[in-house]
Amino acid sequence: MLTIRRAALLGLLVLGVSVFAGCTVNGEAARHRRDEAQMSMAMEHGFKPGEAAPAKAAPAGGAAAANDPAKLGQTVATANGCAACHSIDGKAGVGPTWKGLFDSNRELASGGPVKADEAYLKESIANPNAKIAKGFGPNVMPATFGSTLKPEQIDQIVAYIKSLK
Ligand code: HEC
Repeated sequence: MLTIRRAALLGLLVLGVSVFAGCTVNGEAARHRRDEAQMSMAMEHGFKPGEAAPAKAAPAGGAAAANDPAKLGQTVATANGCAACHSIDGKAGVGPTWKGLFDSNRELASGGPVKADEAYLKESIANPNAKIAKGFGPNVMPATFGSTLKPEQIDQIVAYIKSLK
């Protein structure tokens, strides 16, 4: 079936990425080059480092949208360029996909697994270097969101990620 072939392909891709990451783990220089490459990839996708967008009002779309934390979270995430690095369709990009992330078991560069609960997501947003997802580099995700985003905006993004099953 098509979905099975897709899943197999995705599995191969993930394997390939982990092997690639494993090869460079020993070389600090290689890792640095990779981080730079990832950052320029992110910038090609529209991410501008250091340019956190100000909080935007909820989009016009009725009271329901205005009060739905997940919808608000989507707006905050879009305004802050998260999508340049995080897909919501299962494909790994510069950063891990958000699809199915909530409540999953995450392997960390330092070991693991650790449950991706609300506390983990909040920490990953405010302090990305605290726990590094396996296969990805540190110092790639901006560490500024803890100060540029309000706590309730981080809660909204978490609600949005939770909705991406
Ligand atoms: C320049 C690329 C980049 C941008 C922009 C970015 N991230 Fe990340 N993010 C990463 C990378 C790389 C990782 C994996 C390394 C780590 O764990 O810090 C990551 C990890 C995460 C994780 C943990 C994911 C997991 O699978 O364990 C969350 C949650 C997250 N980011 C949220 C966000 C949010 C919310 C924003 C926007 C406000 C954002 N990120 C913007 C690159 C980025």
